[in-house]
Amino acid sequence: MSADSWIEPLHQENRHFAPTAEFSKNAIAQPAIYEQAKADRLGFWADQANQLHWHKPFTQTLDWTNPPFARWFHDGEINISYNCLDRHVEAGNGDRVALFFEGEPGDNREITYAELTDEVKRAANVLIGLGVKPGDRVAIYMPMIPEAIVAMQAVARIGAVHSVIFGGFSAESLHTRIEDAQATLVITADGGYRKGRASALKPAVDMALDGGKCPSVKNVLVVKRTGQEVGWVEGRDIDWGTALASASNDHAAQGFNAEHPLFILYTSGTTGKPKGILHTTGGYLTQVAYTHKNVFDLHADTDVYWCTADIGWITGHSYVAYGPLANGASQVIYEGTPETPDWGRWWSIVQKYGVSILYTAPTAIRSFMKLGSQIPKEYDLSSIRVLGSVGEPINPEAWMWYRNIIGGGHAPIVDTWWQTETGAIMISPLPGITTLKPGSAQIALPGIEMKILDDGGNVLGREEPGLLTITEPWPSMLRGIWGDPDRYKETYWSKFKNIYFAGDGAKFDEEGNVWLLGRVDDVMNVSGHRLSTAEIESALVSHPYVAEAAVVGAKDETTGQAVVAFVILRRNQLENAGSDADVSKILRDHVTKEIGPIARPRTIMVVSELPKTRSGKIMRRLLRDVAEDRPVGDVTTLADTSVMDIISGKIAGGASD
Ligand code: WTA
Repeated sequence: MSADSWIEPLHQENRHFAPTAEFSKNAIAQPAIYEQAKADRLGFWADQANQLHWHKPFTQTLDWTNPPFARWFHDGEINISYNCLDRHVEAGNGDRVALFFEGEPGDNREITYAELTDEVKRAANVLIGLGVKPGDRVAIYMPMIPEAIVAMQAVARIGAVHSVIFGGFSAESLHTRIEDAQATLVITADGGYRKGRASALKPAVDMALDGGKCPSVKNVLVVKRTGQEVGWVEGRDIDWGTALASASNDHAAQGFNAEHPLFILYTSGTTGKPKGILHTTGGYLTQVAYTHKNVFDLHADTDVYWCTADIGWITGHSYVAYGPLANGASQVIYEGTPETPDWGRWWSIVQKYGVSILYTAPTAIRSFMKLGSQIPKEYDLSSIRVLGSVGEPINPEAWMWYRNIIGGGHAPIVDTWWQTETGAIMISPLPGITTLKPGSAQIALPGIEMKILDDGGNVLGREEPGLLTITEPWPSMLRGIWGDPDRYKETYWSKFKNIYFAGDGAKFDEEGNVWLLGRVDDVMNVSGHRLSTAEIESALVSHPYVAEAAVVGAKDETTGQAVVAFVILRRNQLENAGSDADVSKILRDHVTKEIGPIARPRTIMVVSELPKTRSGKIMRRLLRDVAEDRPVGDVTTLADTSVMDIISGKIAGGASD
């Protein structure tokens, strides 16, 4: 038995953990919140919105006369950056630390609300000086450094629209996203620190824009973080530090319509083309601020909050760049990877800053758990009082480990279900109210209405798995897919009339708690990151060696799912290709180049046929059986039933690392 012998197997999922009386007494959210929201849902949301500062108050909460196009608070005017910054300074909290920044090499900076406001105002003036106007799109490709948040806040402050692209995406992905949004400005950095070394970003921007490939882009603002050498295009590239130093720190935030576009964030769907999810201002900030405060039980004057997500993902938007700042929280941001210089890094950060609320993903928890409890036990984690989980289901074992080892055996865990599209948390316990059940995201938050339906739209009973739907509009809902209103309607609102279909399977247990059962479409979830099978397949077939490809997400102990690709090679290329193992490396590198390292297949299997139905649809279910090393299921609908024998026999030729 290991030192972790207290971890009992899965049957613990039926254990319950009620909040302590003391936690409940001091909690932000009290039980009446559920009744209030139930009694008057729209009134409840109006109350939440009115906790923000409105330049012009709204008179109508929701306009749902033209579904699925909702308008929230649509005759009000608001400035999101004013709400996140100036408001706190004016209230006398200018000296409160907004950001505790920890660089991977060990450098750190403390930035107060007054300082951050000053910096954002300067950046706003720089953007205006470059001709950025309300509604213009600005691409942001940055490491996790304070300037990333300054950039997002400054873009939003002047009513421009940001599109943050995760630093792990390749030049090619960056290019498509810049082009789709027709961005006029790119904000980037020379590089950032990752895994103990400087990792370049600017060269990818140069490649993405190379030879006038993105003619919409007029300028590139470059933050100097690592000091590494970078190419420089005179007239286009501008040094961020120099520009900000000479800019005025005087900028009065103007109100924008509540439905003014705030950002586009690209995410994977079921086709090869990423979707630019569009969010607007007033409703988004309302739900983000409300959930951040109530779900994490934020006491802004005493808590130190840390969300480990990168700003390249929705979690880094809602729960790093906006929610915590809207609520005047002090938060940690960390630039690097958890294993640098060793696997104690996160816990040393918790100890150093006295982190009291930690929000992370199950993949990270499982990685730490695999290494054992010894490492975190070397640090003082007693400041922790609330733990959060996001991005994928958290298995009960990981839940128990998180609570006992990181949360001192007492910290409530909020398992938060939501999506890029929902903008903010939708299903989660409230830590002072809910009796926790490891592994379940539990119940819809006050103000949110959800149902589990079968394919025909019938409401399912307890213990009946079905499709997760949101039956009423919510303030932070996506407003569309950039440039593609038809795809918006088709993807989310066509399965059930005027009901949002999330793409996830779910069931209620006998106590009415929600259990998420994974995606029901061809979207994979690798380390909490969404990847589309179709997108990786099209990257694979863009390589001259590949005739056909099929990608599946196979179960993986640490990352939840892993990318497994089945490829048919072009016969005439086989001779050049050499052994299967070489092909595997070449193709995996190719996917990295086309999409980015997060999409790199764990395993490539070279096969001579793919299992298809008579109508030519690839039967991924069968490939998943192979990838997960299970006996292959029902093959009767295959056009050629012998294919699966051939594939199974060929697996020995597969390669992975
Ligand atoms: C999955 C991340 C189970 C789900 C915020 C969803 C979860 C997709 C959970 C969205 C959770 C997210 N339990 N599954 N607590 N949170 N998911 O857009 O499949 O990157 O549809 O947003 O992640 O991923 P996205």
